Amino acid sequence: MKRGAFAYPSGQIYLDGNSLGLMPKAARARVLTRLEEWEHEAVSGWEHWFALSESLSPSIARLVGARPAEVIATGSITVNLHALLATFYRPDGAKRHLVATELDFPSDLYALRSWADRAGAELRLIPSRDGRTLLEEDVLSALKDDVALALLPTVLYRSGQLLPVRSITRAARERGVVIGWDAAHSVGCLPHAFHEDNVDFAVWCHYKYVNAGPGAPGGLFVHERHAGLVPGLAGWWGHDKRTQFEMRPHFHPAEGAGAYQIATPSILALSALEGALETFDELGIDAIRARSLELTAYLIERCARELPEFILVTPREPAQRGGHVALVHPEARMLSLALRERGIVPDFREPDILRLAPVALYNSEDELDQTVRVLRELLDSGQYRHFAGQASAVT
Ligand SMILES: Cc1ncc(COP(=O)(O)O)c(C=O)c1O
Repeated sequence: MKRGAFAYPSGQIYLDGNSLGLMPKAARARVLTRLEEWEHEAVSGWEHWFALSESLSPSIARLVGARPAEVIATGSITVNLHALLATFYRPDGAKRHLVATELDFPSDLYALRSWADRAGAELRLIPSRDGRTLLEEDVLSALKDDVALALLPTVLYRSGQLLPVRSITRAARERGVVIGWDAAHSVGCLPHAFHEDNVDFAVWCHYKYVNAGPGAPGGLFVHERHAGLVPGLAGWWGHDKRTQFEMRPHFHPAEGAGAYQIATPSILALSALEGALETFDELGIDAIRARSLELTAYLIERCARELPEFILVTPREPAQRGGHVALVHPEARMLSLALRERGIVPDFREPDILRLAPVALYNSEDELDQTVRVLRELLDSGQYRHFAGQASAVT
C-alpha cells in the first residue's frame, strides 16, 4: 500500500513486522529534525517538545477507537501495565483474584503475578484446550464474582487468534470485573473500539505494526469514565501540564490518560513514532485492515495447498485473526533459520511455531509466493537440517 514510504532491507523479504516493523522514512526525517533542534536550540527545545506525547494522541486515538484524552504514548507495555495495575487492581475482601490466560506473553504474567503475590491473591490462568487458541466460553467462565481484574490479549502472540473484545468486555463489566487488554498484536493492524466497547484500560507497543522503531514508546488507554482517578504510580510527567513547572510538592494529575505518564519521555523516540503515525493518518486503519486480511487469506490459502506438512493454527475466520499467520512444524526452528539464510525473514516462537506477518503497508502477494516456494524447496530437499542444534535468533 505504501512500500515506498519504508526503508525496505535490500535483497530481503521481510515478514517480521509483527515483531519489529520496518523503518518509515518519515520516522527517520522526524528524528533528524529533532536532532537538529537539539543541536541548535539545546534546552529551549523543551518549549515545543514539552507536550509532544499529547500531540500524538489524536492519531493514536484513531488507531484504538478512543477519544484523544483517553490515550497517551508513554512507557512500554510492561511498565504501563504495572502503572495501571497500581491504579485499577483494588483487591477487596473475597473479590481479589486476577485472571489472565495460559497463552499470554510471559511479561504480562510476571507483572500480574507480582501484584497477586503482594495481595495474597491468585493469578488464575484460563486454559487453552488445544494449547494454541482460546474458547470464548472458557474466558467467560473464568470471570467469576471473586475476580477483581482480568487482563487479556486482543490477539494471541503465537497463534494470531483475535478474541472478541466487545462481548468479553461486556461480560466482565456485568460481573464487576475490571478488564484490561494487551493489544500489542493488534494496534496498527486492525481497528479497535476501546471507548465504545467500554474497556477499562489497555496497553500496547508501537514497535510492531506501528513501525515506530526498536524500543519505541508504548501506548495506553484509560476509559474516560475513570478520568480523575489518581494514578497509583505518580510521577511529574503525569502532572497537570498547566502547572507542572510550578514544581508543587503535591501531585495534581493531568485530566485523562496523560496522568499515567511517569517520567521525562525520550523525545527522539517519540519523534520516530510521530513520523510513523503519518501513514496511518493518511490511509486509515480500516483500509489497512482490509489489505491485511487479503494478504493473510492469500497466504493461508497457498500454505494449505502447497505446504500440507504445516499445521495452520491461526483461525481461518477473518473476524478471529490478527495480522500474522502461524504455522506449526516440529522443525520450525530450523526452517526459520534456513529462510533467513535465503533472505526471507520470518520469526520463530517456541516450541514449534513459524510466524509469517504479511504487513499491509509494505508486503505483497509476490513475496508470499516466493516464501511458499522456498519453504516447499526446503521441505523437499531437507536443506535446513544443518541448523540442527543451533539456537534460534532472539527474534
Ligand atoms: C503480547 C505482548 N505483551 C507484552 C510484551 C512486552 O512488551 P514490552 O517489552 O514493551 O514491555 C510483548 C513484547 O513483544 C508482547 O508481544
